[in-house]
Amino acid sequence: MPDLYNRIFENNKRWVAEKNETDPNFFNRLSKGQNPPILWIGCSDSRVPANEITGTEPGEIFVHRNIANMVVHTDMNMLSVLDYAVNVLEVKHVIVCGHYGCGGINAALENKQVGIIDNWLRHIKDVYRLHKAEIDAIQDIDQKSRRMVEINVQEQVFDLSKTSIIQNAWAQNQTVYIHGIVYDVSNGILKDLNLNISNNQHLDSVYKLDIDQIIGNN
Ligand code: CO
Repeated sequence: MPDLYNRIFENNKRWVAEKNETDPNFFNRLSKGQNPPILWIGCSDSRVPANEITGTEPGEIFVHRNIANMVVHTDMNMLSVLDYAVNVLEVKHVIVCGHYGCGGINAALENKQVGIIDNWLRHIKDVYRLHKAEIDAIQDIDQKSRRMVEINVQEQVFDLSKTSIIQNAWAQNQTVYIHGIVYDVSNGILKDLNLNISNNQHLDSVYKLDIDQIIGNN
């Protein structure tokens, strides 16, 4: 009985054969480079694979995933992906995708020590603290978690718009929309939170960067 590790190679052979049959130029085309219009920032959760749930093909979505789809502005990994996506690939859309039933969100709502991950969950706890009145007013644990998932996505969208990378792009009239969406693991449906931010007008003055100065420095 082959285990999953062995199966991935058999699956891969079958997938290559299928691709070559339906689209003989598929691999040749992708070998020339990528031009994805979307950057996806999602959760590492195995149930939320970016391409499959969006019906997209290799080459269409540039992906960054971490626990609870966080935009941590000191995270060099996230910043490097964002910088490359916005400034080199020139993506038109940046999507933060959360999902109901997120283990990271649920852990952040509790007080149990988990280990080194507690330090990552701190970022989610900061979001919780910011919206504590609304979250704590919800009695049902499942509803509380669902609302926290949505609020967390919203805050990560705002955190993206606070980065110099995104503010620079907007200042130079590059079209970049930032979206917040939530995936429901229980039925497969994607919900758009309709944030669709494309400028820094909504930002508190504390976070707005001096645009003239940015352009002058580039
Ligand atoms: Co998750």
